[in-house]
Amino acid sequence: MRILFFGDVMGKPGRVVLKKKLPELRARLGADMVIANGENASGGVGLTSDVLREMLGVGVDVVTTGNHVWKHRDLYGTLDKDSRVVRPANYPDGTPGRGMTIFEHPAGYRVAVLNLQGRTFMDDVECPFRTADALLASLPDDVRIRFVDFHAEATSEKKALGWHLDGRVSAMIGTHTHVQTADAMLLDKGTAYLTDAGMCGVEASCLGMDKEVIMRRFLTRLPQRFILAKGEATVNGVLVDVCPETGGATHVELVRE
Ligand code: FE2
Repeated sequence: MRILFFGDVMGKPGRVVLKKKLPELRARLGADMVIANGENASGGVGLTSDVLREMLGVGVDVVTTGNHVWKHRDLYGTLDKDSRVVRPANYPDGTPGRGMTIFEHPAGYRVAVLNLQGRTFMDDVECPFRTADALLASLPDDVRIRFVDFHAEATSEKKALGWHLDGRVSAMIGTHTHVQTADAMLLDKGTAYLTDAGMCGVEASCLGMDKEVIMRRFLTRLPQRFILAKGEATVNGVLVDVCPETGGATHVELVRE
């Protein structure tokens, strides 16, 4: 089972590049399933129901999110209804949506997709470590393929959750920083790990936002209205091979086009 994952899709430039490259990448890399983080797909912050539909329409099987998922209220109902989108699981009980979904692949594989959020330099949500433990305990044992998008800021928190989940999930891939890290590896007990998948968006920018605005913000310390960067965009992500019987990863590699 080959899973292709894309990091944070940044606004329209990210959606356009994803739509353009996804069919060719899916075919060339032989991906069985595509997951993408869509928490910034609408205007660079948040996700609307329309944009979710657009992402699912271009070939994304499951959309993960993060801290900006609450930006557009129109998504709340969709989060409850549509099992192809997940939000971080470690929000308080009663929050709209689900933090884990099971994707049924046409070939018969079932893939659990878990979404968690870090709490170092971020909102103080519930413990991602204990939430992950509870989610995994609730999973039927025959769902061996388990993919985790950990939307978090701190590299140490990401590494620690990777080791905590080693051998219990197929892959733990980080998102949120929009910068792809070079540390893709198979952990000791067979979990594919990457600190951050990077983004789908304009590289000549600050994390997908207009670089002039961000520079002005740092130079003046005055609040600025963020605008999306324009220009040529890249897709950043990761490819993971998983043994469907054991759920262990056999290969992990960076994707950057
Ligand atoms: Fe984020």
